[in-house]
Amino acid sequence: MKSLVLGATGQVGFELCRMQPVRTELVALSRDQLDICDGIAVAAALRRFKPTVVINAAAYTQVDRAESEPERAFDVNGMAPGHVASATRAIGARLIHLSTDFIFDGGQPRPWAPGDPGRPLNAYGRSKLAGEGAVQRESHGEAVIVRTAWLYSTHGTNFVKTMLRLMGARDVLDVVVDQVGSPTWARSLARALWMFAIRPDLRGTYHWTDAGVASWYDFAVAIQEEALSRNLLTRQIAIRAIRSAEYPTAAQRPPFSVLDTRSTAQDLGLQPEHWRRNLRLMLDEVAAT
Ligand SMILES: NC(=O)c1ccc[n+]([C@@H]2O[C@H](COP(=O)([O-])OP(=O)(O)OC[C@H]3O[C@@H](n4cnc5c(N)ncnc54)[C@H](OP(=O)(O)O)[C@@H]3O)[C@@H](O)[C@H]2O)c1
Repeated sequence: MKSLVLGATGQVGFELCRMQPVRTELVALSRDQLDICDGIAVAAALRRFKPTVVINAAAYTQVDRAESEPERAFDVNGMAPGHVASATRAIGARLIHLSTDFIFDGGQPRPWAPGDPGRPLNAYGRSKLAGEGAVQRESHGEAVIVRTAWLYSTHGTNFVKTMLRLMGARDVLDVVVDQVGSPTWARSLARALWMFAIRPDLRGTYHWTDAGVASWYDFAVAIQEEALSRNLLTRQIAIRAIRSAEYPTAAQRPPFSVLDTRSTAQDLGLQPEHWRRNLRLMLDEVAAT
């Protein structure tokens, strides 16, 4: 298998490179090396490298900023995946494309199934939903789209690293309690993506997150407990549960973001691990560095 990873310097791209399976030839390109908005450059790169699988982990992921620059978010997340899908199809390769829980409005009381209709609440979600459509269209339904949520890793900017920083600097932290999802280690997602890569029989839309659910408040409390036990923090601070309305952000977020991962587990034969177990593994890694 010869693989091309796009968005190589992001959280998922980084973990994909780290988790590269044996006997895989891997080319991993950052934005500096290949801007996916440049359709001609994308087609030329795919013709040059001739991958059998392309994993598109490149995206505009600044959810709040997307409200003030929706065109930029749409170019990267809505249009460019179409270029990637069409160039991938042109060389007879497979595409695995990443999408998000934010295509849903979070307004139903059960986990979101892959076939549930998208109804995004914000510009980022609208751009990602448009990207899914472009990928479906340009790949003629042959691509795999993997929606995920609430990612963190030792690499990049994410909730776990932000919490560790703030908990080390403040005496009190307010964290929203009325948004619920499944915290997901980018490493576990990368493992699932590589399993999709070796399964040419699979196509269509899948969900992958770690198991279990939590509010951002629950997640913050767990981060503090696990960090204290590893001496990543030296003192316990107060964490207060607040409502989203008390922490206004530019982008509205879905209250219930839990994704139903059963079809992925079944088709890959891979059960997701509980988020708390993966949080421990990630913090073990932080403690070891
Ligand atoms: N993070 C989450 O919680 C989350 C949740 C659900 C779904 N997802 C999805 O998962 C995927 C990966 O997310 P992530 O957390 O790894 O994001 P990330 O850390 O922000 O990485 C995104 C990568 O894409 C690159 N990129 C941006 N614009 C590009 C362009 N025009 N051409 C080529 N590369 C470009 C970025 O490069 P620069 O840094 O140089 O800009 C960065 O390396 C995305 O599809 C995202 O929508 C993420």
